[in-house]
Amino acid sequence: MLSYRHGYHAGNYADVLKHSLLLQTIRLLQKKDKPFVYIDTHAGAGGYSLTADFAQKTGEYLDGVAKLWQADDLPAPLADYIRAVRLFNGDSDQLAYYPGSPSIMDMELRPKDRMVLHELHTTDVDTLSQQFAGERKVKVLHADGLQGLIAAVPPLERRALVLIDPSYEIKSDYEEVAISVIEAYKRFATGVYMIWYPVVNREQTEAMFDILKASGIKRQLRIEQAIRPDSNEFGMTAAGLWVINPPWQLDTLAEETTRYLSRCLDQGGGATQVTWEVGE
Ligand SMILES: C[S@@+](CC[C@H](N)C(=O)[O-])C[C@H]1O[C@@H](n2cnc3c(N)ncnc32)[C@H](O)[C@@H]1O
Repeated sequence: MLSYRHGYHAGNYADVLKHSLLLQTIRLLQKKDKPFVYIDTHAGAGGYSLTADFAQKTGEYLDGVAKLWQADDLPAPLADYIRAVRLFNGDSDQLAYYPGSPSIMDMELRPKDRMVLHELHTTDVDTLSQQFAGERKVKVLHADGLQGLIAAVPPLERRALVLIDPSYEIKSDYEEVAISVIEAYKRFATGVYMIWYPVVNREQTEAMFDILKASGIKRQLRIEQAIRPDSNEFGMTAAGLWVINPPWQLDTLAEETTRYLSRCLDQGGGATQVTWEVGE
C-alpha cells in the first residue's frame, strides 16, 4: 500500500533544489549532440495543482518555489528553473501549477532523446499515461522503478541521466537504493545517476552513502541543503542530491544555486554543502 503522494510536497524546498539541478544537468548533457535517455525511477504524477487540496493542506510550496517566484535577483540556474515553472503555468504571473520531474524533462528533451518513467501508484501512473499519451519518445511503466532501472541499462544510446527519487517510506528503501544503483552501475558505468535523499534521521541517510562510498564507484558528489540543524524529532530537516558521474561544471552550478537557496529558504540554523565524497 503506497501512502506517499507527491501532491502534498510539490514545489517545496527539496523540489526546488532537485528540479533546478535536474534542469542544469540536462543542459550540460545537451552540450553534446548525441541522443540520451532520461530514466525516472519514481516519476510521480508529472504535474500538480497548487490550488488543489493536497498542496493547500500542507502549504509546503509557500516555503519553496513561491519564495523564488517573484524574486528579481535569482542566479542563472534558478532563473532558468523559474522560467520552466512559469512555462508550465502557461506563462501566467499566477503560480497555480507545479511541474514534476517528467514535465521538466519533457520541456527540454530533443526529438532524438527519449524518456522512461516508472510509477507504482495507480492514480499517479494513470495521470502520467494521460499526460504523455501519443508521445513516442516517452514510455510510462506501471512498474517498480529500481527493478526497472536494472532492466533499462545499458541503454541503446549509451548515454543516460537517471533520477532515483523514492519516497523512502520504508526504512529498507535506503539500502535498497544503494544496492540497486551499484548493480546498475556495474552494467552501465558511464551513466549519470542522481539520487534524491531526505535527512529525517541522519544515521539512516549516511548508512546509504556508506554503502555507495565503499562500492569502489568513483566521482560521487553530494549537494545538500539543510533548512534546520539535524534532528531526529522534527521531520525532514535537509534534502539533497547524491550524484554519480555529474557532468562537468555541475558542482559549480550547484554551489551558485545552494548559496542563494540558503539565504532564501533557510528556516533557522541550516547549512548547505557541495562536496566531492569520492573523487576521480
Ligand atoms: C518523491 S515522489 C516522485 C516525484 C517526482 N520524481 C518529481 O520529482 O516530480 C515518489 C514517487 O514514487 C512512487 N513510488 C513508490 N514506490 C515506488 C516503486 N517501488 N517504484 C516506482 N514508483 C514508486 C510514489 O507513488 C511517488 O509518486
